Amino acid sequence: MTLRTILTYSEGSPDASSAIRLFRAEAELPPLKESDVAVQFLASPVTPQDLLVIAGRYPVKPSHKHEHLAIPGYDGVCRVTAVGSKVTALQPGDHAVPSRHGLGTWRSHAVVDSSALVKVPRELDSVAASSLKMGAVVAWLLLEEQDGLGPGDWIVQNAASGVIGQFVAQLARLRGLNTLSVVRDREDVESVRQRLLDLGASVVMTEAELETCQGQVPCLDGKRVVLALDSVFGEPGKRLVGVLTPGASYINYGSLGGADGELRLSQKDLFWKHIKFTNFRLSAVLAAYDQNQFADLLDWLSRCFLQGQLRVPEVDLVHLSRAEDPERLARDTLAKATAQERVGHKRQVFVFE
Ligand SMILES: NC(=O)c1ccc[n+]([C@@H]2O[C@H](COP(=O)([O-])OP(=O)(O)OC[C@H]3O[C@@H](n4cnc5c(N)ncnc54)[C@H](OP(=O)(O)O)[C@@H]3O)[C@@H](O)[C@H]2O)c1
Repeated sequence: MTLRTILTYSEGSPDASSAIRLFRAEAELPPLKESDVAVQFLASPVTPQDLLVIAGRYPVKPSHKHEHLAIPGYDGVCRVTAVGSKVTALQPGDHAVPSRHGLGTWRSHAVVDSSALVKVPRELDSVAASSLKMGAVVAWLLLEEQDGLGPGDWIVQNAASGVIGQFVAQLARLRGLNTLSVVRDREDVESVRQRLLDLGASVVMTEAELETCQGQVPCLDGKRVVLALDSVFGEPGKRLVGVLTPGASYINYGSLGGADGELRLSQKDLFWKHIKFTNFRLSAVLAAYDQNQFADLLDWLSRCFLQGQLRVPEVDLVHLSRAEDPERLARDTLAKATAQERVGHKRQVFVFE
């Protein structure tokens, strides 16, 4: 018998903290079907995507339920504990991450089809592995969206202190690209500036500093600013458009500034500069990837971590199994994650061991 912890939620609640329910029970491992894999989750992050799922605002719904309630969590890393008779790609002791959205990683144990998982190196740090799919992979694919990006080109991005923003700066540096990383204003701006410069950002500015420049950023003078990566929209998005050079691309991949934000563009932005405005959705991009391509990308990113070329984002670990009241702790964790006005918060990661 093993003690199992499972987080679930009632669909469509705008308040993730009150929507969540935690179940705990001793249970035996059920008999495995031939393509099944039994796993134990090691680290399961709370991402902005998970909050959208719980709020009913994400197109891909969870694939697993417990007591008729959906199990959230779309990223994470698990250890394989047993495999069905026809499983060859995974063995007990292997570590794996979800191959697609919806796996339901906010639980200590699961039995899933082996096709739902992709193996990653066992020696990879759990937090690094748990931020591969919704962090490093997203950052890599965002950079891949723009054809012809070459050494010396500049990209600009907002929400740059977030997990994806940190990976964008690091991966851009590996490709010889320069990054202007824009962060929200805060009291300890110098410490976040230094942290992002250490990771590989070329220049770090606050939204207020960028606003003061009115599109004339001295360090960008005469440079090719060919790509803007926007996950905020609204005014912060518009500030990125302002520094792009003609023919550049603007990719929106998030709406941290609120679901009803507006991007107000001038005639110059829209027509004279020929900026290409596009949207990025990981699920759509990954749908065009075959499983081997995705596994190769994860393998390359894992090796970047292991060789010290990529650094793991700072996170807060939330040890649910050690808590006296784990449901309360889970609710508090989600309340923190949804408090957007709190500047400088770290990604929270559920740990079940
Ligand atoms: N399109 C896709 O397929 C896809 C896939 C994955 C993620 N995303 C989106 O990508 C975005 C970033 O994800 P992430 O995993 O990097 O999130 P994250 O680690 O939570 O980082 C986002 C950071 O943005 C900053 N922020 C929060 N609200 C903001 C606001 N109103 N204005 C400006 N900055 C704000 C916060 O940093 P400070 O507190 O330090 O300012 C926060 O840490 C999210 O919108 C997410 O939904 C999209």
